[in-house]
Amino acid sequence: MNEKARIAVFASGSGSNFEALENACREGELDAEIVLVMTDKPASFVVERARLTDIRVVALEPKAFPSKQAYEEALLGILREEDVEWIALAGYMRLIGPTLLAAYPSRIVNIHPSLLPSFTGKDAIGQAIAHGVKVTGVTVHLVDAGMDTGPILAQVAVPVVEGDAEKTAQAIQRIEHVIYKETLQKLILTNGGVHS
Ligand code: GAR
Repeated sequence: MNEKARIAVFASGSGSNFEALENACREGELDAEIVLVMTDKPASFVVERARLTDIRVVALEPKAFPSKQAYEEALLGILREEDVEWIALAGYMRLIGPTLLAAYPSRIVNIHPSLLPSFTGKDAIGQAIAHGVKVTGVTVHLVDAGMDTGPILAQVAVPVVEGDAEKTAQAIQRIEHVIYKETLQKLILTNGGVHS
């Protein structure tokens, strides 16, 4: 039998990308199962979205641990309990450290609301508008030790709605909710197998 790929979603915010991925899994557009939602922000809205599903939700705050390594080792323990094969960052606003990168080489994916390498980090849409660019976009990439760096898997350009961050953000999110599931599906199909 073709077993579904096991994904953990890491998120720090509203969780609309989590929800889009979860829908895609349920509707068979993404041949995967989200087996864990992990947040570093227990009060974030993604927790409420995830609690409407049967998916295990874990909220772990880094400040509860003596070091980043200890934090990631705790995460790793939970990821292994759930046999997680892929990690999808969906608005997870924290750098991934060596512990997780070593455990999931080329198995951690991120989505970012800009045409990378432009406008990394927080508020990429605000940065694009402040720079006066006419076109921004969405990037899906494999995660390395940098901030929003790593091999690019997919990019879509999105026109900036002049002077309107809100409308630009809405246009970007509409694209995100399509491009993330499609890119993960391609990645999973071409890289089956189990994590190290
Ligand atoms: C998304 O726009 C995602 O691209 C961005 O956070 C938002 C999360 O939205 N990620 C980054 O900026 C990563 N550097 P969501 O919580 O509604 O999915």
